[in-house]
Amino acid sequence: MDQKLKGQIAIVTGASSGIGAGVSKSLAAAGATVVVNHPVAATAAAAEGVLTEIKNAGGAGITYQCDVSKEAEVQKMFADVVAQFGTVHILINNAGLQRDSPFQEMTLEQWNTVLGVNLTGQFLCAREAIREFLRRGPVPEISRATGKIVCMSSVHEEIPWAGHANYAASKGGIMMMMKSISQEFAPMKIRINSIGPGAIKTPINHAAWATPAAEKTLLELIPYNRVGVVEDIGAAAVWLASDDSDYVNGITLFVDGGMTLYPGFSTNG
Ligand code: BGC
Repeated sequence: MDQKLKGQIAIVTGASSGIGAGVSKSLAAAGATVVVNHPVAATAAAAEGVLTEIKNAGGAGITYQCDVSKEAEVQKMFADVVAQFGTVHILINNAGLQRDSPFQEMTLEQWNTVLGVNLTGQFLCAREAIREFLRRGPVPEISRATGKIVCMSSVHEEIPWAGHANYAASKGGIMMMMKSISQEFAPMKIRINSIGPGAIKTPINHAAWATPAAEKTLLELIPYNRVGVVEDIGAAAVWLASDDSDYVNGITLFVDGGMTLYPGFSTNG
C-alpha cells in the first residue's frame, strides 16, 4: 500500500474494537505509527490483539490505556506519547459509546456517560493535540499540515434519533466543536474534519445487523444497499489524515451508503 502517512505518529482513541480498531489498521498500513488507545484494564487484551494484527502486517505502534473522559489521563497519554515518539501528527478522535433509553426514562448517568466520552473526551484530546501541534510547529517534509484531527461523528449529527437523545446530542456537539476549532486553527495549518459514519458493522450496533431479518430492516435506510464495514471508514480516515486532503477544512465526510439522503422520501413525501 501507498505509505502516505510514513513517519507520522497517530493516536487513535477507542481503538480496541469497532471503527477505532479498523482505522488503526488502515493508518498503520499507510505507514503511520499508531497509538492504539483503549479505556480500561479490561480492554487491554483486545487492544493488544489489534496491535498484533498491525505488527503482523508489517506496521508499528503501541497500546495505551487512557479513559478519554478524564483530563489527567488524557494529558498523561499525550505527554507519554510525545516523550516516546517526539511528537504527534494525527489524532483520530474516535472513542464513543451509546447508552440508549426512552427520553423520559433516561438517567443523568446515561446522559453524562455519553456526553463525557463522546464530546468531552473529544474536547480533551483535541486540546492536547492542538497544544502539541502548536508547540512543535510545521515540519513540511512530514506533512503540508502542522497537524490533523479527524473527529468520529455520525450520521446522527444530522439525523435526529429517537431513543438516543444523548448520543445524537453528543454528535451534534462534535459537529460544532469541530467546525469552530477548524476555523480557529486553519491559519496555523492545523486541519480538523469529521467523518460521519452510517451503519457500520461493529459491536455498537450488533443487534441492527446480526440476523438476516434485522439486516433487511436496516438496509431500508441505506440506498447503496449494503451495511458498511470498518475498512470504509479506514480509507476515509487515511485520506483526511493525509496531504491528499490538504485543502479540506471543517467538513463532515459522510461515509454512509447514502443514509443521509433520507431514502424514505424516494417513494413518499
Ligand atoms: C450508531 C449506530 C447506528 C448508526 C446508523 C451510528 O452512529 O452508533 O448504532 O447503527 O449510527 O444509525
